[in-house]
Amino acid sequence: MLNSGFSTIVEDGDAVVILDQTRLPAEVSYVRLTHIDHAAHAIRVLQARGAPLIGATAAYGLALGLKDGADDDRLATVCSLLLATRPTAVNLQWALSRMQSVLRGLPEAERLAAAWREAKTIAEEDIATNAAIGRHGLPLIEHAAARTGTAQVMTHCNAGWLATVAHGTALAPIYAAHEAGLRQHVWVSETRPRNQGQLTAWELGQAGVARSFVADNAAGLLLMRGEVDIVIVGADRIAANGDVANKVGTYLKALAARAHNVPFYVAAPVSTIDFACPDGAAIPIEEREPEELGIHALGLADCAVRNLAFDVTPAGLIAGIITEHGIFPPQQLMQLRARLTQ
Ligand code: MRU
Repeated sequence: MLNSGFSTIVEDGDAVVILDQTRLPAEVSYVRLTHIDHAAHAIRVLQARGAPLIGATAAYGLALGLKDGADDDRLATVCSLLLATRPTAVNLQWALSRMQSVLRGLPEAERLAAAWREAKTIAEEDIATNAAIGRHGLPLIEHAAARTGTAQVMTHCNAGWLATVAHGTALAPIYAAHEAGLRQHVWVSETRPRNQGQLTAWELGQAGVARSFVADNAAGLLLMRGEVDIVIVGADRIAANGDVANKVGTYLKALAARAHNVPFYVAAPVSTIDFACPDGAAIPIEEREPEELGIHALGLADCAVRNLAFDVTPAGLIAGIITEHGIFPPQQLMQLRARLTQ
């Protein structure tokens, strides 16, 4: 079962086709990106969203941007255009840096073909990476199912296959548990204001995973009542000290989980760890258009609005970071880095 038969991003000749997530769950439709501006727009308006998918879309966007020339100036312009789309998910920066380090050493005439090859490699690696996250996270759900009969998992936002090329991050262990035949049930929070919880409810439904949809602020009560065994969320950027930026509302879930002794895990690839970022305070937090919160359309146009799209969960509230290399305490990310660079 790979993405229930859907693709979030595929090459199509000299274009890229993405699943339009702004139309889900009501409608499954695709958008063909033929120009870098289409890719930048898709990322900005959340047609393609979720940290790993933003990275893959940016990589393909860069390839689209080199169609009309690939000299150093063009490369720099294309990268800064894509980099300006969304600030928090570090996978965007990661994918563009990786693309640039491959392309800069090549003659101009070879760069376009190399950009398509590297974007494809980034996309293919994401599939294997997330499958590994699923395998490493599976024992956590096995443990919960063994203890309570049915593992009760809470998640937030959408960190499933829709947010990646395949499998998802936070949902990867859930899909692995589903394939293993474990009994589980997923609490899906709405995720105001962009309602990414609907995406999670949709994709879990496509796979046949039992789930219940709740308002964001119901999480505290569910945790207090003992109706949740484990919380697993994704991440947009993880600082070197283990602080995690993820969709706004994640921090409050982590606080409530700690208050009620429920383990709180973050699932993310190493490409989401920003080793150059010392702590959560240094993570840029996206503030989106006030219109997304809806109050201005209700006749309160004079009301000030801060539409903070992400928040930061301190490392101390996190039981472990589930990566493609295993589960690590958030405080040990620098050791992980040392191991990876050996
Ligand atoms: O604004 P979005 O929808 O791009 O936010 C997505 C999230 O916050 C996800 O939890 C995160 O990117 C992890 S995706 C595997």
